[in-house]
Amino acid sequence: MEEKNYSEMLLEVIHEGVLILDQDLRIQMASKFYYQSFYTTPEETIGKFLFDVSNRQWDIPELRIALSNVLQNDNQVRNYEIKHNFKEFGYRVMIFNISSVSAKQLIIVAIEDITGYKTAIEQIKELNNTLEGKIEERTSKLRSLAAKLTMSEQEERKRISDILHEDLQQILVAIQMKLNLIEWDYEKGKTKNFLKQIKVLREYTDSAIDKTRNLSSDLSPEITKSKNIKDLLEWLVAWFEHRHNLNITLNTESDLQIPDKEIRLTLVHIIRELLFNIVKHADTDQAVIDVSRKDLHGIKLAVIDKGNGFDVEKAVSHTDVAKKIGLFNVEERLNYLGGDFEIESAPGKGTRVTITLMRALTD
Ligand SMILES: Nc1ncnc2c1ncn2[C@@H]1O[C@H](COP(=O)(O)OP(=O)(O)OP(=O)(O)O)[C@@H](O)[C@H]1O
Ligand SMILES: [Mg+2]
Repeated sequence: MEEKNYSEMLLEVIHEGVLILDQDLRIQMASKFYYQSFYTTPEETIGKFLFDVSNRQWDIPELRIALSNVLQNDNQVRNYEIKHNFKEFGYRVMIFNISSVSAKQLIIVAIEDITGYKTAIEQIKELNNTLEGKIEERTSKLRSLAAKLTMSEQEERKRISDILHEDLQQILVAIQMKLNLIEWDYEKGKTKNFLKQIKVLREYTDSAIDKTRNLSSDLSPEITKSKNIKDLLEWLVAWFEHRHNLNITLNTESDLQIPDKEIRLTLVHIIRELLFNIVKHADTDQAVIDVSRKDLHGIKLAVIDKGNGFDVEKAVSHTDVAKKIGLFNVEERLNYLGGDFEIESAPGKGTRVTITLMRALTD
């Protein structure tokens, strides 16, 4: 009696599903936790054959094998995992520890339900895999971005060296030859054509000055010194209209100032990329840029076209990473400045890209 009391107390408090069976596999006792976990009651359990209770849900082949092992051979089975899809309890993963006591008169079945733990592990694994996939994709994009930047740097160097070599150097050589001729003429006393020669020399030097001026304004556009976003955008709009025949409607307040040069240059770069995307992909010659203040110090900028549109999901998770880097670069640059970036587009519906920079208008 005393012994039974202890067992009953233990079965009250233990945080595990425990069944005590007789040698005919009839349930003699069960832990409170068992009733709670498997939604049943002592009335439906005690005195019943194990494989009959709970609508015969425990009649699982693996459990039958484990119990017959305990009864016939080993006296105990340790850490035996059974996965089972119960009709009433759903999918469960359980660890069974089964022992026979009192010369096989009683069998103790301890059931630990590790479904939650297993699901959590599976979820962590899955999360890990998606994270790894994302990191891999990002690394590969960053790598191709770096490669592209190096390439465009080399192209830019080549362009500058072509201008220096083919244009400027040729003009300077021509000036030098002209000066030699003038010198010879002077030595021979032929000064009649000097004025004409000087005129040609002036044309050459004017052209050289023009080339250097263009080159330096190309390399570091004077306009980016202006803090006014309207001036900057008007310059960009004129450039796109001139170079690519894109007609752009610019809607902006006139007094928005961006004091930080890095933010200004980034914005110019981003808008140039977005407008260039319209030129390349949208199949339209019309675009709109909307600029507005966002709260006190923020700026919101939308580049809109009514052209082809595209499937954004596909475009940003493209497998063809090496070739499409523009939008990724835009996102990276904005992330760096703490900005936001949203693309709304669908095939046939045009495209709207919205950029928000919360501290752009502060010093
Ligand atoms: N305004 C737009 N209209 C239609 N499709 C667009 C537009 N902007 C982007 N896309 C689509 O999104 C894709 C990704 O754009 P993204 O700027 O990243 O790459 P890209 O322009 O193809 O190449 P890159 O910018 O690297 O030279 C484009 O290839 C194009 O299919
Ligand atoms: Mg692009």
